Amino acid sequence: MTTKEVNLLARYPRARRNVKARLGNKEENRRIALQFGREYFDGTREQGYGGYKYDGRWLPIAEDIVRHFGLKSGDRMLDVGCGKGFLVKDLMKACPGLEAFGVDISEYALLHCEPEVVGRLHLGSAVRLPFPDNSFQAVISINTVHNLERQECVLALREIERLAPGKGYIQVDAYRNEAERQIFEDWMLTARTYGKPEDWIAILREAGYTGNYFWTILEIDPDWTITA
Ligand SMILES: C[S@@+](CC[C@H](N)C(=O)[O-])C[C@H]1O[C@@H](n2cnc3c(N)ncnc32)[C@H](O)[C@@H]1O
Repeated sequence: MTTKEVNLLARYPRARRNVKARLGNKEENRRIALQFGREYFDGTREQGYGGYKYDGRWLPIAEDIVRHFGLKSGDRMLDVGCGKGFLVKDLMKACPGLEAFGVDISEYALLHCEPEVVGRLHLGSAVRLPFPDNSFQAVISINTVHNLERQECVLALREIERLAPGKGYIQVDAYRNEAERQIFEDWMLTARTYGKPEDWIAILREAGYTGNYFWTILEIDPDWTITA
């Protein structure tokens, strides 16, 4: 597989966001969100997800991931930044017999994981994944790597490449123009590294990453509720 842009989240539902509500108290909310604790997952929308609950929305994405990588029973795959393990659970549903695992830095998320994934989620950081070289048929990381400083992003990408050479998929925050940058900066809480797709491609190259990638871009939607 060669490095290329592929959208594996095409079937993820679009969320409506009240951007203005996140403008107040931003620095304090960012500090709290970056702890990736209860407030981030199950606190208010100003400090994170505003309630991170399983609702099956990842199942179509899991099906697309299984198809994209040709995963089958007995294969091993890893989700870096797995949160409570929603995608890990749905990958095992989409591909019975798949050995799916996750890694996340949040003890809170792991302590509140889905029952089906108990024992499959590891506490750790994307920059140092505690698994042997070439030990997974696919490694994915969705909306996680941008939470690291630039040099740590390089380390995390090298780790994904080490575990599954050419069989990675990462999705990270990006913007293509000034209007998208503005809306991104108003909304985001936890990103430490961000930029345009070409900035990310430079980071992928520096890391020697040869997997696939796509961007999470907040677009301006005329239906968005912009008022508080
Ligand atoms: C925006 S959430 C994405 C969760 C899930 N992948 C999804 O798309 O719903 C970011 C996740 O990255 C985790 N995270 C942040 N820094 C991390 C790190 N250095 N290593 C591993 N996970 C990290 C957070 O705890 C959180 O679960």
